[in-house]
Amino acid sequence: MSGMLEGRSILVTGAAGGIGQAAAVLFAKEGARVIAADLNPDGLAETARIASDAGQAIETIEANVGSEDDANRLVSETIKRHGMIDGAFNNAGIEGDWARTDESTLENFNRVVGVNQTGVYLCMRAEIQAMLKAGAKGSIVNTASIAGIAGAMYMPAYIASKHAVVGLTKAAAMEFARKDIRVNAVCPGPIKTRMLDTLMGHHPKAMDATSDSTAMKRLGEPQEIAEAACWLLSDRSSYVTGVALPVDGGMVAGP
Ligand SMILES: NC(=O)c1ccc[n+]([C@@H]2O[C@H](COP(=O)([O-])OP(=O)(O)OC[C@H]3O[C@@H](n4cnc5c(N)ncnc54)[C@H](O)[C@@H]3O)[C@@H](O)[C@H]2O)c1
Repeated sequence: MSGMLEGRSILVTGAAGGIGQAAAVLFAKEGARVIAADLNPDGLAETARIASDAGQAIETIEANVGSEDDANRLVSETIKRHGMIDGAFNNAGIEGDWARTDESTLENFNRVVGVNQTGVYLCMRAEIQAMLKAGAKGSIVNTASIAGIAGAMYMPAYIASKHAVVGLTKAAAMEFARKDIRVNAVCPGPIKTRMLDTLMGHHPKAMDATSDSTAMKRLGEPQEIAEAACWLLSDRSSYVTGVALPVDGGMVAGP
């Protein structure tokens, strides 16, 4: 039986760990030819090893998504190696400092926006340019967050940047719907990754409280976000574009 992404050339950013790593491995298992990109070469090697242990091959590229040259290179290199780019999971992100707005720094604001917002913009722009040039259909999934739907304290730059990812997603979805390029966002709730560990380090007992704040009363697994992204990248979601899909155990459904 063929996979959901059989033969597709797919770029995944932030693929050295957490959600991106789970996604790169899942997409490869679903038949995609995956290019895994990240700043962290050791993590990328680990992603390739996990895939290889599962009988899949993943190619890796070290790159900074916040750099215009690197974002363009990621797409041109994907096309050089695969002859095309059919889809992308723009997932790289950072949490930044934990500080109230009045105590936060411009340096942190620019750093977080530079990766989470500008990085998604630069990658998505290069991906769409390549898809348009090839005249081929495509599917792009951006990682926003429930922090792109609702506010939270002490992470103003992160909240702003994730709201911007939802905005960029909707804008591109409107622009390219009739060119057969779909653009959607996944909005993870609290997922068991390094990022959540780091954030919860700021609050004793916060992990339990966060888990309790979901309707399902549990944290999510990286694999559960990867599955949603896989569906959005595949033809099985062919009538879906411009959505910001919460994958959050029911967290934003409640009060
Ligand atoms: N874990 C959660 O609870 C949660 C919730 C909502 C949204 N998210 C989002 O999910 C995405 C993945 O996060 P994660 O939880 O897997 O955390 P993570 O820290 O494990 O993964 C993020 C990856 O992005 C990479 N990265 C950071 N800056 C980069 C850059 N400039 N260029 C290329 N790669 C870069 C990191 O090296 C890392 O491998 C992020 O966008 C994050 O904001 C996570």
